This record gives sequence, C-alpha cells and structure tokens, in this order.
Amino acid sequence: MRGEICMGTASFLSFVALLLSIFMHVGQINTSTIPRGISMAKVNVSGYGNALYAALGDPIQGLYTDNASAPLAAEAGLRNLYDYGLYSYCAYVELPQGTCSNSSAATRFEPFEAMTSDMIGNWSFITEGLIPSSVAFRNSNSLGSQSNSAYYLLILGTICAALAFFLGMAKRTITFLAASLFAIIGSLFLLIGAAIWTAVVHRAASINDLVVGASSSPTPLGITVSVGTGIYLAWAAFACLVVSTLPYMTSCCTYRG
Ligand SMILES: *[C@@H]1O[C@H](CO)[C@@H](O)[C@H](O)[C@H]1NC(C)=O
Ligand SMILES: *[C@@H]1O[C@H](CO)[C@@H](O)[C@H](O)[C@H]1NC(C)=O
Ligand SMILES: *[C@@H]1O[C@H](CO)[C@@H](O)[C@H](O)[C@H]1NC(C)=O
Ligand SMILES: *[C@@H]1O[C@H](CO)[C@@H](O)[C@H](O)[C@H]1NC(C)=O
Repeated sequence: MRGEICMGTASFLSFVALLLSIFMHVGQINTSTIPRGISMAKVNVSGYGNALYAALGDPIQGLYTDNASAPLAAEAGLRNLYDYGLYSYCAYVELPQGTCSNSSAATRFEPFEAMTSDMIGNWSFITEGLIPSSVAFRNSNSLGSQSNSAYYLLILGTICAALAFFLGMAKRTITFLAASLFAIIGSLFLLIGAAIWTAVVHRAASINDLVVGASSSPTPLGITVSVGTGIYLAWAAFACLVVSTLPYMTSCCTYRG
C-alpha cells in the first residue's frame, strides 16, 4: 500500500508540473480568456503619453491608437499594454481588446522594438532621444537572445516532465528509474529557464524608475515592466517536478513488480 501511495504521489506531482508548463506555453497565443491572462512579462506604457507631454510641453496627439485590431509593428499607433508569451506577444488598447503578433516559437522579448515600431515615425524618433540607450530596456539584442534561449530550456523541461509522467505510469523498476532521471533533468531545465526569464524581466524593469521633465517636478516615464503569471507557473512547475523526484526514486528502489 505504501508503494502505491508513493507512486501515486510521484505521478500526481509530475502531472501537475506538466499541466503548469502547458498553461505557461499557451500564454498570449491569442486574446481569448486563458491565454490573455498568462504572460511571461507585462509592459504597461499607458503613462508614456503624459511623460512625453512633460518632456516636450506640447499636447500629444496621434501617439496612441484606440483601434484594438490595428496591425502590430506597422506604425499604426501605440497600445497601452504589451504582454509577452513564449510564442507571441499581444498588445491591448484596454483588456480584453487587443491583437497578437504572428506566432513563432521562442518569441524574443524586445519591448522597445515593439513600442517604437507601433509609433508613427516622429514619435519613435523622439522616443529614441528620450530614453537613454544605456538602459537595459532598450537593449533588444540582449533581452531578445536571453528570452529566446530560456524558451528552449523551458520546452525541454516540459518534455522531460511529460516523459517522467508517462514513464512513471508503466510501473517497472526501470521505468521508475528513467522517470526519476527525467524529473531531475527536467527540473534543472525549468529552473534555469525560469531563472533566466526572471532575470531578463527584472533587468528590463529598471525602466520603471526613470523620470523625465524638469528636475523640480519630475514625471515618471510611464513605462512599467512587470513579471507575468507565466514565470510563476514555470517556478511552480519546477517545484512540483523537483519534489516528484523523491517518490520516483523511492518507488524505483522499493518497487517489486
Ligand atoms: C497601467 O498603468 C496605469 C498607470 O500608469 C494604471 O492606471 C493601469 O491600471 C495599468 N494597467 C494595468 C492593466 O496594469
Ligand atoms: C481598425 O484597424 C483595422 C485593421 O487595420 C481596420 O480594418 C479597421 O477599419 C480599423 N477600424 C477603425 C474604426 O479605424
Ligand atoms: C504575419 O503573417 C502574415 C501572413 O503570413 C503576414 O502577411 C504578415 O506580414 C505577418 N506580420 C508580421 C508582423 O510579421
Ligand atoms: C508628428 O506627426 C504628426 C502627424 O504627421 C503630427 O500631428 C504631430 O504634431 C507630429 N509631432 C511632432 C512632435 O512633431
């Protein structure tokens, strides 16, 4: 009986890890309810118009669009929110009205590119002058390539979680051994992938503290980067998978099928 509980616990934990990883993967693939709520990183630029006003002193016209279905990266106007998933990003005028980029695996987290490619020409020019090129937020090469690498670690971690779950169902000493190995390797992939994504978002979030305008009355830049639910799902999947290694190893050592 104890053996059954041990096997059941291991399967349950690896199944939960798999499920959490799958939810992480569906984030921002389109704007329906569940994908919309899950993202790796969120960028809120709704205050940027105020910052431009404070910096330039002129009323800001034509910066934002209120057409939620306007195409992305086509100088059609800035949206208020840019949410990044692993396969695409979506830009929302107001939740839930938005539009998503074309899907491709390992979408790069390049929020500065996304923003400026939505602004009509003269605004993107002004923005490049206003945001110092030294801030990490503007370093699309580094943010993009690291988020891209982290994707491959997360997908490998997800595959390992699936293998651990399905092998563990076979209930042989050898399959429990294999499940333990996949759980250990998968945990490592998820850990490193989640850590890289977390670090990337935290570096980009240094933009949150920038101010513009006269030093006597500074105005926040109005661009806020924050960690999305998808990163928490990655950490939770890691936790479940790493804990599942214990009952898998116990089953492997004690199972006499
Ligand atoms: C975006 O930021 C503004 C303030 O800058 C805030 O009022 C608004 O609630 C934020 N939106 C979301 C979805 O977080
Ligand atoms: C919004 O953008 C779409 C796509 O470009 C276009 O077909 C539509 O006519 C626009 N709607 C308005 C109200 O401008
Ligand atoms: C998205 O895909 C469509 C059709 O494949 C293409 O016409 C369009 O240019 C793509 N958009 C972007 C932003 O790459
Ligand atoms: C940018 O261009 C738009 C339309 O061409 C114009 O209305 C706006 O005043 C320009 N902004 C600046 C700061 O030159």
